[in-house]
Amino acid sequence: MEKIVLCITGASGFIYGERLLEELSKNHLVYLIISESAFKVMEEERDLGRRDFIKSLPDNVSFFSQDEIDAPISSGSRLIETKGVIVAPCSTGTLGAVANGISSNLIHRVCDVALKERKKVYMLLREMPLSLIHIKNMEKVTLSGGTVAVASPGFYTKPKSVEDMVNFVAGKVLDFFDIKHNLYRRWRDEDF
Ligand SMILES: Cc1cc2nc3c(=O)[nH]c(=O)nc-3n(C[C@H](O)[C@H](O)[C@H](O)COP(=O)(O)O)c2cc1C
Repeated sequence: MEKIVLCITGASGFIYGERLLEELSKNHLVYLIISESAFKVMEEERDLGRRDFIKSLPDNVSFFSQDEIDAPISSGSRLIETKGVIVAPCSTGTLGAVANGISSNLIHRVCDVALKERKKVYMLLREMPLSLIHIKNMEKVTLSGGTVAVASPGFYTKPKSVEDMVNFVAGKVLDFFDIKHNLYRRWRDEDF
């Protein structure tokens, strides 16, 4: 099974991380890191408890807390075995830490390592509006080889629910990693 790292941080949109986890765990070994703030957002937005959520994870998902800085994936030799790192949703705080090389937790560290090893890093930001600080940090990550996207569903697929809009955004992230899915209808795709 191919391996991939999924990080969920404390930006609004825990559901993006959940949907990606659902899809990735169908055919990947997923290293999952959830920040402390993300657990708070999860409780607010999803009415889920931390313990129940962790308990419900399938066997091919290895969970790490943000403080497990000694996790195998914090090393380049292990991270290089993965397809890369997805941060979804990504807070402006995590973006800022990664953009400036401040590896103060496991999420920042895996992004830092992935960038130095030239692996794919996809940061799905959720904030509006953006300050120049955010924009400069997005520029830094981009110049370092990472990909930054602001979660922005398209409407040409005629979404009928929040679920549809979440699927569109999650599907776009999976496209970037060449991972097959049926989450959204592609432009002019009549056979969906
Ligand atoms: C309910 C809730 C919603 C939040 N939404 C956002 C958001 O959309 N974008 C963002 O950058 N931060 C948001 N925050 C703030 C982050 O959680 C906070 O900056 C935190 O320190 C980020 O830490 P992390 O990146 O380690 O998860 C939100 C916080 C809460 C409690």
